[in-house]
Amino acid sequence: MPILNRAPFPITRLRRLRSHGFLRELVQENQLVITDLIYPIFITDMDQREPVLSMPGIERIPLRELAQEVKEIQSLGIRVVALFPSAQVEKSIDARAAYDPNGLIQRSIRLIKQTCPDLGVMTDGALDPYTLTGQDGLTNEQGLVLNDETVDVLVQQALSHAKAGSDIFAPSDMMDGRIGALRQALDAAGYQDMILLAYSAKYASSFYGPFRDAVGSATHLGKQNKATYQMNPANSDEALHEVTLDLQEGADMVMIKPGLPYLDVLWRVKQTFQVPTVVYQVSGEYAMLKAAAEKNYLNERLAVMETMLAFKRAGADIIITYFAKQIARWLRDEND
Ligand code: PBG
Repeated sequence: MPILNRAPFPITRLRRLRSHGFLRELVQENQLVITDLIYPIFITDMDQREPVLSMPGIERIPLRELAQEVKEIQSLGIRVVALFPSAQVEKSIDARAAYDPNGLIQRSIRLIKQTCPDLGVMTDGALDPYTLTGQDGLTNEQGLVLNDETVDVLVQQALSHAKAGSDIFAPSDMMDGRIGALRQALDAAGYQDMILLAYSAKYASSFYGPFRDAVGSATHLGKQNKATYQMNPANSDEALHEVTLDLQEGADMVMIKPGLPYLDVLWRVKQTFQVPTVVYQVSGEYAMLKAAAEKNYLNERLAVMETMLAFKRAGADIIITYFAKQIARWLRDEND
């Protein structure tokens, strides 16, 4: 409980500690450091870099430019990247490209580990880039996403990523029971140290739109949504149940996603469990800030850094953000 028995005004003047920059910094409660951030990269098989139109400043990176890209990322001080495949990966009913040992992601992991062995690699557990439906799982004839059958494929996907050298497997699919199945299969195959980062409280959010453009699942998904597996935005008790189960099943870290619209959920999860807690500032949040900044409605740097502090204040230990490279430059310039 906060101490509320302070001397009243005018003995106490809270503005006193705000009167100089050095004082404000001295008493600042939360700090962002570059090692808090994870930078997502969209990888393509095409020859050229391709801008993601709804995400100004973000490009799909061709595999042959990935080495150069990750060297730059590492030189900025970023310690972990999250990989997503874009558009042209093979799509099928059984999503078999998800666990192809020579798939785009598997090749990317190997290349990054050869180029920058100290850069952490996080990979996505979900089938949406590989299914004909754009859904995160396998579907039956009625279009229903099948839970246990999908978990079996996720296990294959995780094993193929582990074999290629991924450090962190982060299932974003929201199937029930997948963390337990993944932990068991990874351990049995000798990957006891692969980290499982559970997208525990992932909401059925409209803020994923630009990501689905980038990955190329939007057209396949069409008018369908993901409400039978992602969480209802109206709920927050349910998020605690999701996190409880994921921790019981062996998750090393848990995630709340999206970020800013769900700060209350982030706060509750961190307060309740005190485990490493990740927040994902998603593509739609990025797009909103970029759009407003481009119109000069907002000061980009100030607005973005404010969102970072909001995440820290609410309890985030780790922030996944498309702004990571820009933030790295801002933090560096500050220290010059
Ligand atoms: C797919 C996945 C999504 C995101 C990360 N993994 C989109 C979705 O669930 O449709 C969203 C990330 C973002 O919007 O930045 N499993």
